[in-house]
Amino acid sequence: MIANRAADVTDSITMAISALAMKLKKEGQDVLSFGAGEPDFDTPDVIKQAAIKAIEQGKTKYTAATGIAELKEAVCAKFLKENGVGYSPAQIVISCGAKHSIFNAIMALINPGDEVIIPAPYWVSYPDQVQLCGGKPVFIETDDRSAFKITPQQLRDAITPKTKLFILNSPSNPTGSVYSRAELAALAEVLVEKQVLVLSDEIYEKLIYAGHEHVCIAALSEEIKALTILVNGVAKAYAMTGWRIGYTAAPPAIATAMGMIQSHSTSNPTTPAQWASVAALTQPIPEVEMMRCEFESRRVLMVEGLNQIPGVRCVMPAGAFYTFPNVSGLFGKTTLSGVVIRDSAQLCELLLKEALVACVPGSGFGAEGYIRLSYATSRSDIQRGIERIHQWVSALQ
Ligand SMILES: Cc1ncc(COP(=O)(O)O)c(C=O)c1O
Repeated sequence: MIANRAADVTDSITMAISALAMKLKKEGQDVLSFGAGEPDFDTPDVIKQAAIKAIEQGKTKYTAATGIAELKEAVCAKFLKENGVGYSPAQIVISCGAKHSIFNAIMALINPGDEVIIPAPYWVSYPDQVQLCGGKPVFIETDDRSAFKITPQQLRDAITPKTKLFILNSPSNPTGSVYSRAELAALAEVLVEKQVLVLSDEIYEKLIYAGHEHVCIAALSEEIKALTILVNGVAKAYAMTGWRIGYTAAPPAIATAMGMIQSHSTSNPTTPAQWASVAALTQPIPEVEMMRCEFESRRVLMVEGLNQIPGVRCVMPAGAFYTFPNVSGLFGKTTLSGVVIRDSAQLCELLLKEALVACVPGSGFGAEGYIRLSYATSRSDIQRGIERIHQWVSALQ
C-alpha cells in the first residue's frame, strides 16, 4: 500500500529513546534529558512583538510562494554583512524551516541514482531526504581523533561520475565541529575542480565558541559560490524553532527550481512568522550573544564532567550545543543488572532505564561508538545528569 519511497525511509532510532523517556516521566520518574535539539530559551520579545503587530495589521494572508520581499531583502543584507557574500532577492527562497529548505534543494537537484556525499556523523535527515528523492547517500567516515572533519583527499576519493552534491554542515550537529577557513578553502578547491555542488547548512553559525570563527564557504571565491546552495534559518540563533522559517541563497536556476517546488507543495511559509523573522534579522537582538555565552559555559561544564568518567572520551566542540563523546570504552562491560553493553543504542536504553538520563545513540547519526548529549539544558541538570552517568558507569564490571 505504501509507496517504496516512504517504505524505504529509516525509522528514527532516537524516537524509541524519546518515547521511553516520555513514558518514564509520565510514571513520575525524575528523568534528566540531554536529547534536546533546540535552545531552552524563549524567543526574544522584540521578535514576538513583531509577529503580534503583523497579526494586528492583518498580515495574515498568502504571500508570494517564496516569501515576502522584506524578508528576502533582510536575508540578502545579512549574507552580505555577516558572511561577506552578495545575492539578489531573486536568489532567495524562504521556506518552512531549514529542514524544508534542504528538502527543496535536494528535490530540485537530485535525479534517481545521483550520488550525494555526506560526511558521517551527520544530521539524521540528510540521508533520508536524499533517499526520498531517489538519490544515493555516500558517506565519508570521520572520528573524534580528527575532530570529526573530513580531509580534501577523502572528499576527492568519494567523488565519482555520479556525484551531484556534497553536504557540508559547519558547525555540525551532532559533533559541534567547525571547519576553519583554510580547511574549507581546501575542500572548495576539490569541489571547484570536480564541479560538484555543495549544500552548506549553516544553521548553527551563531553558536561558535572561543578560538573559532564561522566561515561561509560561498564567500571564498566566485567559483565556489556558483556551486553553493547556502542554507540558514532563524531556529537555533534566535530560539525560534517553532516558528518554522529557514532560507536559502542559490544560483538563479536552482533558486527558481526550488521556488517552483515550494509553490506546488507548501506555498509560502506562515506569514506572521516571516514578519517575526524580519525583526530577528534586522533588529538588535542582544539575547543571541547572551545565549551563546551561556552555551559556551555549559559546554565546558559538560565536557569536563564527561572526561572524568572512565571509558568516556569527549573532544571539546567548537560550535552548536551538542557534545559527542566516544563511549566505545564501555562496550563489553557488564551492568549491575547483568547486561553486557553491545552498542550505543543499548547503552542509551540502559542509561535511561537505570540512571534516568536520556542521551541519543551515535548510530542514529551514522557513528557507532558515540552518544550525543545536548547542553541546551540548565547547568544544574548538566551537573546532576553527568553525575548520574558517572556513578552508573563506575558500577560497571
Ligand atoms: C544541522 C541541522 N540542519 C537543519 C535543521 C533544521 O532546522 P529548522 O528547525 O530550521 O528546520 C536542524 C535542526 O535540528 C539541524 O540540526
